[in-house]
Amino acid sequence: MAHGDQYKHSGKAVEGKKTFMRLMSYLSKDKKLLLIIGFLIIISIVANLLGSYMIRPIINDYIIPGNFNGLVNILLVLAGIYLIGVAAVYIQYRLLNKIGQRAVTRMRTDLFRKMEKLPIKYFDTHQHGDLMSRYTNDIDQVSNTLTDSLSDMLSSALMLIGIFVLMIYISPILTLVTLITIPLMFLSAKTIVKRSKKYFKEQQNTLGETNGYIEEMISGQKVIKVFGHEKKVESDFDILNQSLKDKSEKAQFYSGMMMPVMQNLNTLNYVIITIVGGLLAIFRGFDVGGLAAFLQYSQQFGRPINELASLYNSIQAAIAGAERIFQVIDEAPEQEDGPEAIAVKDVKGDLEMKDVYFGYKPEKLILKGVSLHATPGTKIALVGETGAGKTTILNMLPRFFDIKSGEINIDGVSIQNIKRDNLRQSMAIVLQDTHLFTGTVCENIRFGRLDATDEEVIEAAKLTAAHSFIKRLPKGYHTQLENDGANLSQGQRQLLNIARAAVADPSILLLDEATSNIDTRSELLIQRGLDKLMEGRTSLIIAHRLSTVRNADRILVLDHGQIIEQGTHKELLALKGKYYSLYEEQFEEF
Ligand SMILES: Nc1ncnc2c1ncn2[C@@H]1O[C@H](COP(=O)(O)OP(=O)(O)OP(=O)(O)O)[C@@H](O)[C@H]1O
Ligand SMILES: [Mg+2]
Repeated sequence: MAHGDQYKHSGKAVEGKKTFMRLMSYLSKDKKLLLIIGFLIIISIVANLLGSYMIRPIINDYIIPGNFNGLVNILLVLAGIYLIGVAAVYIQYRLLNKIGQRAVTRMRTDLFRKMEKLPIKYFDTHQHGDLMSRYTNDIDQVSNTLTDSLSDMLSSALMLIGIFVLMIYISPILTLVTLITIPLMFLSAKTIVKRSKKYFKEQQNTLGETNGYIEEMISGQKVIKVFGHEKKVESDFDILNQSLKDKSEKAQFYSGMMMPVMQNLNTLNYVIITIVGGLLAIFRGFDVGGLAAFLQYSQQFGRPINELASLYNSIQAAIAGAERIFQVIDEAPEQEDGPEAIAVKDVKGDLEMKDVYFGYKPEKLILKGVSLHATPGTKIALVGETGAGKTTILNMLPRFFDIKSGEINIDGVSIQNIKRDNLRQSMAIVLQDTHLFTGTVCENIRFGRLDATDEEVIEAAKLTAAHSFIKRLPKGYHTQLENDGANLSQGQRQLLNIARAAVADPSILLLDEATSNIDTRSELLIQRGLDKLMEGRTSLIIAHRLSTVRNADRILVLDHGQIIEQGTHKELLALKGKYYSLYEEQFEEF
């Protein structure tokens, strides 16, 4: 999980800087607003410093000589200056919030766009909850920093410079005295930050892991209950939760330590200056107004250092979050269509696989030299034992995964050379595991082809025998489905998935166990619908229940990634091979 661990420490720092710059690039799209913000920061700092400096003339020229008329005037001026400063800060925060939120929105967009481009393999190999965590917690971290910390950081840095200059102007000797404690401040800040940085990163990763776990447990709740694993799940969760607590506690502890340490050093500084300044005033005639102003500055001087240090902490947290976001954004997308990729029109549905080899992992081949040919409009059935590689063959056709070697052609064109969108549009797939989106029944069927009319949706439902059950739903086609169609039976979900494929009206139809959850009587009904649907289309169907593939033009028997027999139902039975024994076994069940 902890990706960063593979970097050496120096590499990590470089990586951190890179991530930071990249984070900044999201802000720099709003250059004009950034300039305005910079300008406002300068105004507020000048107002602040000027306000503090005016203590000197107020004491020296008005209070000590007893000029009270003048005092009222100069206090009014002082109030004016502070007011301008406050207004500048207010507008600055408003604007910053705006561009911060815009940057975060852009980042979220990038993340989502990328997610839509990622290959299926990515989702197979990453916890969904952890991916979710990147959208929520990691984006939050970034968002907090972008909106609050950055302007603070800039203004603190400028403030530091401004104060320093004015301090030298008032008293170089006292400035020198201040410089004694400053290295101490920087040193402690650095030590603290180094620790907290590490734990912030660990915190974000553990948070992702925990969310991943929670997500799995939510979707697996039924299985957990049935097998009575609540205790085990709870204790596993406790371990994650505890580890998250430890990491967060440490991150918070170190970042929280900053403030008190700095404040103590600052107080030390204050005491030293008071003593030295007092002595200077008594023996060297240093003006009291000057001392008051200087003390004011020296108080303020500690604050930006303190702020910078704690901001640095929050920026570390943001970088930890941003790194996890960029990790996804930087994932290799599905390979882009090459320049030679073409769009095939009016696909006839001639489907050919030639000596295809493939493995999900390079070291383990799943398909070993599969060849098949379906002429337009024919119905090919794939049968074979569990794990033989039937679904894997289907996965190759829309290029969910790319084959290792061999060739797959549609209408004589290699699918590698067909634009991916175009390729996928030419086929409709009913997957082994159904999926329904939150929305109405009608919307879910229309997902097959977004411009389908209501009539076309109903027609598709009728064709695939889904119409009769939909009519019996409380609101018919307008019944709201939620949570992957949890309010439907498994068979009903399959029917909707088939109707969705029907409405897509493709040239090639791929059905993976499409009717496995439907009772045998209803299946007969659907079979008729499916037969109608398959008319004039090339179809590749997978079924365990051999009765449903009996009428296929050709049946291929797959075994350990190889086609070992093929022919019509009759031919295969006559062969008395694998198909025959599979069929006999099923026949005996009845
Ligand atoms: N996403 C994946 N990543 C890695 N290996 C996989 C993946 N999907 C399937 N496999 C492996 O590929 C082999 C073939 O799986 P496949 O899903 O094609 O079988 P199947 O014939 O469709 O079986 P079933 O009848 O149970 O659906 C199995 O041994 C499985 O372990
Ligand atoms: Mg399968």
